[in-house]
Amino acid sequence: MGNQKTGRIKSIAGPLVIAKDMRGCEMYEVVRVGQEGLMGEIIKLIQDLAYVQVYEDTTGLKPGEEVVRTGAPVSVELGPGIITNFYDGIQRPLLEIKNQAGDYITRGINLPGLDPDKKWDFTATVKKGDELIGGDYLGEVQESKVIKHRIMVPPGIQGKVVEIKSGSFTVNEVIAILESGGKKIELTMKQKWPVRIGRPLKKKLDPEVPLLTGQRIYDTFFPIAKGGTAAIPGGFGTGKTVSQHQLAKWADSQVVVYVGCGERGNEMTEVLITFPELDDPSTGEKLMERSTLIANTSNMPVAAREASIYTGVTIAEYYRDMEYDVALMADSSSRWAEALREISGRLEEMPGEEGFPAYLGTRLADFYERAGRVVTLGSQERFGSVSIIGAVSPPGGDFSEPVAQNTLRVVSAFWALDTNLADRRHFPAINWLTSYSLYLDFVKPWFDQNVGKEFQGLRGDMMALLEQEAELQEIVQLVGQDALPESDRALLEVARMIREDYLQQHAYHEIDSYCSKEKQYLMLKIIMKFYQEVNKAIESGVGANRIAAVKVKDEIARMKYTPNQDFPKRYEELIQSIEGEFESLRNQK
Ligand SMILES: Nc1ncnc2c1ncn2[C@@H]1O[C@H](COP(=O)(O)OP(=O)(O)OP(=O)(O)O)[C@@H](O)[C@H]1O
Ligand SMILES: [Mg+2]
Repeated sequence: MGNQKTGRIKSIAGPLVIAKDMRGCEMYEVVRVGQEGLMGEIIKLIQDLAYVQVYEDTTGLKPGEEVVRTGAPVSVELGPGIITNFYDGIQRPLLEIKNQAGDYITRGINLPGLDPDKKWDFTATVKKGDELIGGDYLGEVQESKVIKHRIMVPPGIQGKVVEIKSGSFTVNEVIAILESGGKKIELTMKQKWPVRIGRPLKKKLDPEVPLLTGQRIYDTFFPIAKGGTAAIPGGFGTGKTVSQHQLAKWADSQVVVYVGCGERGNEMTEVLITFPELDDPSTGEKLMERSTLIANTSNMPVAAREASIYTGVTIAEYYRDMEYDVALMADSSSRWAEALREISGRLEEMPGEEGFPAYLGTRLADFYERAGRVVTLGSQERFGSVSIIGAVSPPGGDFSEPVAQNTLRVVSAFWALDTNLADRRHFPAINWLTSYSLYLDFVKPWFDQNVGKEFQGLRGDMMALLEQEAELQEIVQLVGQDALPESDRALLEVARMIREDYLQQHAYHEIDSYCSKEKQYLMLKIIMKFYQEVNKAIESGVGANRIAAVKVKDEIARMKYTPNQDFPKRYEELIQSIEGEFESLRNQK
């Protein structure tokens, strides 16, 4: 029996089609299913049977209809036009589909990821005779108002430039010809890459450079590194989306890939409407000018949702290869896992915990593994990074469920949203006692050098106070605050200050929305100064009630609203106020 080009549908179960006479197929090969040629992907092979997850609605398909092999794996088109675009999980441009077919993706529409008609101004940066290898730049295109897109030699290709032209081209027109071993290779501005395979790189680097976010709870307490991974688990309405938007807006990455997996039909509309409205403070343009959006909803086929995170991370790696720091947000990865569960169920696989397949953990690990700060391919030493931040929405906010647990095992920063904090309107509602970052030690030298030697030490002191507060609060619940010694009552006061004046950060406040690393450092020093003065006062016999009444507390509470650039001056004033007020407190005694 040789390799067959076509098989036939044997049976259909929702998004899963079983095809027979498919001997010789490859895993993850794309096939066209039925008369309408619906796109599908082979996800399991048993002898001559191919199990195909179909990226379109399968209603109406009948056994016996043809299944045609394409010989190629599910791939994305990489080239100019990705930034500012909206895609579904397999890179079909949503807006164009909407123009052609209305609100829902109808079947058989096959629009390419990159507009084949659009002309781009390409400026060559190499010349005839140059020897190039995969990853080297051929030239550049201004892709959006703010993103310069480097056109690269695709991985695995090398040769001497025999022709190169600048000018206005579509992504399918030849812009360069390389020659290698007497063979000519024509290059366009487009590459294709299979989504389930990571793009090659020269070397992964240690996560030593923080991805600064301007959000105090992350930068100070639970930092993520460039090329790092983080999860934001949280129950319904605890702030996953606001957190993801804040990170997309403020993190010091140049490119954002936002994968939105919504539960309800209208959540996609939420993603498609709210994200494009976000402003980009670093450029003064819309954030979309340096973003691409991949959106899925419950009314889109589950298979496309399953593929969406791979499409997203492949695009992220491609921009990494252009020396960019890329942030990939997945909101929410639980919806992705549910797609995986549904397909696994259709495959009649042995279900693991809560019906998720046993390989859920491996799949999550494989995905997060594609993050990293790397030395990119190419003859020059260049750096880029992909950081991945996934929201997780455990049913009922219970983090012991499989998606949260498996995610926790593979990410290095864990930012746990807390329903109680959200109910108390402590935002961002990240629980400081259950969250953690394994990057703290890695980024310490960077913070020592670029922020201040005391920064991480102060962070440790603050964290210790918060932990002591938690212990004391248990006692307070039993015996009441008045039964505590003066020093403990003072400690509670300082811990409250850390929570309210430092950790709470208002996403929608013009100034507080972003806190520079310098301001974070000085804010910590102010709180530490306050704490030291409190201790001195207690030692000299000043009562906790009088300490609790100091006026400078109100000034400290307002410090977050002082603009970043004015803060050094404000810092000096506040330190003087603290010293002054406590001195008179001690003297009055
Ligand atoms: N940092 C913040 N600053 C101010 N308000 C916030 C902040 N984070 C969350 N909120 C408030 O909490 C609300 C819910 O946040 P969000 O929509 O991000 O939750 P979610 O976890 O994504 O919810 P869902 O489970 O519905 O997806 C927001 O509308 C906002 O009012
Ligand atoms: Mg949300």
